[in-house]
Amino acid sequence: MDEFLMHVKEGLSQKPKFLSSRYFYDSRGDELFKQIMQLEEYYLPAYEMEIIKNQSKALAEFVSLKANELNIIELGAGNGSKTKYFLKELRPYFTTLNYTALDISPNILVENKIQIEQFISDVKIDGIAGNYFDTFPLLKSDDITKLILFLGANIGNFSTENAINFFKFIRNSISHEDYFLVAFDLIKHPREIIKAYDDAQGVTKAFNLNLLERINRELGGNFKIDCFDHFPYYNPTNGITASHLISLERQTVTLSDGTSFHFEPFEAIHTEISKKFFISDIENIAQNANFSVQNYYYNTTKGYVFVLFKPTFTI
Ligand code: AVI
Repeated sequence: MDEFLMHVKEGLSQKPKFLSSRYFYDSRGDELFKQIMQLEEYYLPAYEMEIIKNQSKALAEFVSLKANELNIIELGAGNGSKTKYFLKELRPYFTTLNYTALDISPNILVENKIQIEQFISDVKIDGIAGNYFDTFPLLKSDDITKLILFLGANIGNFSTENAINFFKFIRNSISHEDYFLVAFDLIKHPREIIKAYDDAQGVTKAFNLNLLERINRELGGNFKIDCFDHFPYYNPTNGITASHLISLERQTVTLSDGTSFHFEPFEAIHTEISKKFFISDIENIAQNANFSVQNYYYNTTKGYVFVLFKPTFTI
């Protein structure tokens, strides 16, 4: 059975109902996510760009103390619009700089290569399309130090257990001399966070509802999109923003294979978590996965941080 169909059937039969945020990103979802990145309320890209512009030199100086050549590998690379600035800042510090972008979408990798090549010369650029859990372990290892990038606060979309497992997966695929750089969105005023996931123009609402539209398009569903609303909430006691779709009436939805799902009025489908971190949460993940923190690189408000990790030396 198709994986999407299987997950939809499984998730909508559970109590509470659940759909995975990984299915947000079809071509319509990619387009809506690009629009989210431009929103005033969605502060994350601006904070990230600030760190790239102001902190990349410090990071390059630190890493270049131990390495002359560097292989940068970016997981979930996207179109390279921010990474190109990062690479440009790092370039003078290394005799060789290679960059490999891993992304699920082959089209985005073409865009990535064009963007970066137009912006910076003298960096060897590669792209590998596929799920990075499959592609990352296949990368050939050589003597050059690796710097693995996982930016965009994507780590926030993992449960703590999955974040630790993800760190362990990286740990098992790299050597002692390599580095892992991860962007974390930090705990900040709850109102700033909730606005980012409930923007005034309703772009995030459309992004969330696109999951139901995708089920209609790909699985022959008959979701009436107007009969669902977007409802995110932020829990300041655990740093988790949880997004939901709320059924506005009692209704039954059917897929083309005949499977049907019943919704009570105001019943929720949980669709995404976007975790915000305390530094202690980050240290906890690192410790559980045998990494140690080398440095923190903050934006000016201290609401967002790039953390540079290195494998803990174990005998
Ligand atoms: C991709 N990820 C880090 C975004 C986030 O902030 O959790 C996805 C997103 N969901 C709603 N708005 C943006």
